[in-house]
Amino acid sequence: MKAALIGLGGMGRGHFDNYLRLMKEGAPVELVAVCDIDPQKFEIAKVDFNISGVVSDKQDFSAFRRYTSADEMLEKEKPDLVSIAIPTYLHCEMTLKCFKAGAHVFCEKPMALKVEDCRLMIDTAAECGKQLMIGQCLRFWGEYEVAKQIISSGELGKPVSGYFWRGGGPPANDPDNWYLQRDKSGGCLFDQHVHDVDMIQYLYGMPKAVSSVGRVVFPGNGHDTVSTNYIYDGDFAINSQDDWTLKGHGFSMSFRINFEGGTLYMDHDGFRLAKADGTVVTPEHSTENAYYKEIKYLIGLIRSGEKNTINPPEESMKAIKIAAAEALSTDSHGALVDIK
Ligand SMILES: NC(=O)c1ccc[n+]([C@@H]2O[C@H](COP(=O)([O-])OP(=O)(O)OC[C@H]3O[C@@H](n4cnc5c(N)ncnc54)[C@H](O)[C@@H]3O)[C@@H](O)[C@H]2O)c1
Repeated sequence: MKAALIGLGGMGRGHFDNYLRLMKEGAPVELVAVCDIDPQKFEIAKVDFNISGVVSDKQDFSAFRRYTSADEMLEKEKPDLVSIAIPTYLHCEMTLKCFKAGAHVFCEKPMALKVEDCRLMIDTAAECGKQLMIGQCLRFWGEYEVAKQIISSGELGKPVSGYFWRGGGPPANDPDNWYLQRDKSGGCLFDQHVHDVDMIQYLYGMPKAVSSVGRVVFPGNGHDTVSTNYIYDGDFAINSQDDWTLKGHGFSMSFRINFEGGTLYMDHDGFRLAKADGTVVTPEHSTENAYYKEIKYLIGLIRSGEKNTINPPEESMKAIKIAAAEALSTDSHGALVDIK
């Protein structure tokens, strides 16, 4: 399986490392080419992630064919699989291009900023007979995998409440930064908080409605802070917050998921399950890199032709549907917005 990578910014570099590792391990994939419109990205240098304080290792792209045009790369390389790690507002357009060039696609999250674009991506994948997977990586993250398994098995009874946090300092503070432009990133709500949105619907299903408050802190951006209540039948209290304007605080994520028979925590005190009988344990969980696991999973699906049961694109589209309702609610100062 010939693979190509489009976008060598912070996230693309993570994908690059994972392709190298998969090839070293003998996975049925060969990265043949990389593409970035900015040729400086081919230089051997460290790169700042858009998560404050995180910097990549130096990477050497010289062993791979390098392109500054995705069209040219798709035409010449005819890859079987393309990983897309470019700014969000370009996800839909680039994904369609790759399908039409005959490739399967792994596209970074958020899937797109509009539900209609997500629909178009899914329909085009079906028309072209290709796999599409979106990088909703929490579905492959050890601690969240345990949460899913506990909910699915029902072993601790029904859910009672849940709180999901992520946030930290702002993405690089350059005013030209696409992360700080609403029509390009959707702001923190679409960009970062979408991880928890996707996880909440993975764990609890689609909420009936949402009520969100939040603020635009960087002029011209989408919401840079958000706090949402997800309304479900059964009235279990599910809330999520994100804020990427924190001062003196690196990126962090945590959750507290309460069931009738126990509470699962992932926070600064570690990962643990406190049961109603008073016992506290750290549940067995995978510590493997979720970004590696998700691409390995997709390669397996392409090889086997099996159905994607962990992270199908229809689910990623649902996350965008909920995020869009949250943005509407936030614009209306917390008004309840139904999710149809
Ligand atoms: N899964 C995660 O946890 C996670 C984390 C960070 C970012 N992301 C997502 O990954 C995507 C990329 O984010 P990033 O932080 O790497 O951004 P970035 O700005 O660091 O890098 C984007 C790269 O894409 C290149 N590019 C732009 N348009 C292009 C085009 N038409 N063809 C080829 N290259 C092009 C840019 O030159 C740049 O090098 C975003 O959608 C972001 O939300 C996901």
